[in-house]
Amino acid sequence: MSEDYTLLRSRQDLAKKLLALGFKIGPFEIRAGDSPAPADLALPVFRLAKETKQNPADLAALVAQRIDLSDTILNSVQAVNGYLNFKFQPELFARAVCADYWRNPRRYGSFPLGKGKTIVIDYSSPNIAKPFSVGHLRSTVIGQALYNIFSFLGYRVVGDNHLGDWGTQFGKLLCAFELWGDTQKLQEYPTRHLLELYVRFHETARNDPALETRAREWFRRLESGDPVARERWQTFVRLSQTEFNRIYQLLGVCFDVTLGESFYADRLTGVIERALKTGVARREKPPRNPGRTPSLDEEVDSEETVVLIPLDSSGIDVPLILQKSDGTSLYATRELATVEYRIQTWQPERILYVVGNEQEFYFQQFNAALKLLGITVPCIHVNFGLIRLPAGRLSTREGRVILLEDVIPEAIERAKALLANRELTMEEKETIARKVGIGAIKYADLSQNRRKDVVFDWNRMLALDGDSAPYLQYAYTRTCAILRKAGEFNPANADPTLLTAPEEKTILMHIARFPEIILASAENYEPHRIANHLYRLAQDFSIFYDRIPVLKADTPQLCNSRLALVEMTGTVLKIGLALLGIEVMERM
Ligand code: ARG
Repeated sequence: MSEDYTLLRSRQDLAKKLLALGFKIGPFEIRAGDSPAPADLALPVFRLAKETKQNPADLAALVAQRIDLSDTILNSVQAVNGYLNFKFQPELFARAVCADYWRNPRRYGSFPLGKGKTIVIDYSSPNIAKPFSVGHLRSTVIGQALYNIFSFLGYRVVGDNHLGDWGTQFGKLLCAFELWGDTQKLQEYPTRHLLELYVRFHETARNDPALETRAREWFRRLESGDPVARERWQTFVRLSQTEFNRIYQLLGVCFDVTLGESFYADRLTGVIERALKTGVARREKPPRNPGRTPSLDEEVDSEETVVLIPLDSSGIDVPLILQKSDGTSLYATRELATVEYRIQTWQPERILYVVGNEQEFYFQQFNAALKLLGITVPCIHVNFGLIRLPAGRLSTREGRVILLEDVIPEAIERAKALLANRELTMEEKETIARKVGIGAIKYADLSQNRRKDVVFDWNRMLALDGDSAPYLQYAYTRTCAILRKAGEFNPANADPTLLTAPEEKTILMHIARFPEIILASAENYEPHRIANHLYRLAQDFSIFYDRIPVLKADTPQLCNSRLALVEMTGTVLKIGLALLGIEVMERM
């Protein structure tokens, strides 16, 4: 598999050579430098030195002396302070990287890694009857990128939008709608009206606890299939989904299934009974402090008994509650039914949950419960941070809010302003502005390590000279412009061994690293690795563009070789951006 790519093959070759000398290393202990750094590949020997009780500098010197590079494309090694610095024979390296690329340009960087394997990705998963939040935007954008990346690596990916469409909050909503609902407002601006009702419910319930009882009764009716409750609930779901679908369409996001929590309503009793039967769950007086339960404000009332899974065996002192004293289910109950269903239906190798940091504890509980239930398919919480404004955290009270319905059109408007002076038709401007605006929103998110908070900053997001989608999209259009001007270009007339200028070698190294960047980004569920790599490529391409003549190169052969480099750069940008869910255009 990895034999297909020069850099990976060279790492493996080196690992074998070292093994022959008695040193065991993993291929990724070798670092790939950016040529023309002192090394193309570098191996720190500190670990090996410690294990064999030697001085690192001495060990590096010894290995450098003994290692035999004869049947590799590496041609020099130097020991420098505990590092082994290797260099490629530049002509062979250039030829090999170009050969990797021309074997299958459209799929450059892919591997058949996931052949025969399935991954389920749970992403977006907004809550019905609430406006689509920026948190759900993050889940949507990150989830879609992971979807694309794993598909590119040959996995069968099932994207499941696990809508929050079931739970106590619908009891509250049904109750509030009965009291203050307005059918016309519901049709006009569904999620806003439903949110109003929800807020009003909580305000009123503070002074009127009877309301809570009424709400619980509504949810009980809903769970037991009462036709009135079901029909109203169905309307809320349908209207909210129409709103969400508009957003998905703008973002170019799609799912294989949108099952939602309600889909599992009929399976919940089974889940609870099985957990009780195996002794994993117990019926008990509710714990006094139910602790940090998930975001869907589901509280447990203090009468009678609940069904819970104690998690002490995993060192977690807050049990996972599966059934409330009134017999109704919780978020976690639906979660367990969902995981069972996914395993039965798709036999996944693992399941990814793209959900914010605030549910970290909940996922620890969930995983501890899975262990007790004997479910071994890894369920991985792909967590992420908040979105902040430059002025600080989002705060409704202080007017620092981001509403998605405003953000997307504004991004497109701002992108249009960027294009104001370009020679493009109105129609072209519309299409390009959409790609740039949406791309900018996605890239701002995906270029950061997902675990950290992201700062929502329009200027940075759309900076034509910065780490932004438009910068990368623009770099791509430059590659297109050169190729357009060149006319017919036949890669067979290119001679990669002519690409020896430092600017060219740097780009070749970026291209060579692209496949393993994709691998690392999949392995760590970190799309930012791809984004960051593309940014470096675009920056170095811009240096190349300024310094190295392509169409005016000294000889036709040199021109063709440089055109090949331009074409490879363009394709890597295009493939990489597509993995991030960002579209490119031929001109802008
Ligand atoms: N709807 C939930 C929320 O907004 C997210 C659901 C994530 N998926 C899951 N299987 N728990 O908090």
